[in-house]
Amino acid sequence: MSLPIIYASTSGNVELVCEYIQRSLGDAGIDTSLHRAEVTSIDLIKNADNMILATSTWEHGELNPFFAKLLSEMKQEDLGGKKAAFVGLGDRRYEPVLFCRGIEILQEAFTAQGGSQIGEILKIEGEPHTQLDSTVKPWLESIIQNLK
Ligand SMILES: Cc1cc2nc3c(=O)[nH]c(=O)nc-3n(C[C@H](O)[C@H](O)[C@H](O)COP(=O)(O)O)c2cc1C
Repeated sequence: MSLPIIYASTSGNVELVCEYIQRSLGDAGIDTSLHRAEVTSIDLIKNADNMILATSTWEHGELNPFFAKLLSEMKQEDLGGKKAAFVGLGDRRYEPVLFCRGIEILQEAFTAQGGSQIGEILKIEGEPHTQLDSTVKPWLESIIQNLK
């Protein structure tokens, strides 16, 4: 089974990062599949051992609403034995203390249900286009062994 990358994105920033992650992991010999959270069945998470979860933050510290349904379904599951890496996008201009709060909400729910976190949460501020090689690539290198 390929490694699922499940994400919520409104204007495309998170999507751009997830597409880059998919390409980079493919180059490293890791087969992945991309899934928009709002059309993803909880069965995908139930059937995966490892995954990448990604979201932006909206409306002052809220999870991107496209992830809301899947998050509520995750909270009903035992995620013991599953591992996830987490990618958050945000902007400190909105509310510095709520920077990337959305991905923290996801990470807290995942671990509360028994799942394990791989590495550090990757947090990206502002437009991601110029940060792919400088920020996302080194983070991927740090977690790649855990995703195989
Ligand atoms: C109305 C609005 C509210 C936002 N609130 C926050 C916030 O509370 N914290 C944060 O870190 N980023 C916040 N952001 C920034 C977005 O998370 C950021 O622009 C992100 O790159 C959007 O990614 P997406 O287009 O893929 O959803 C907000 C953006 C908008 C437009």
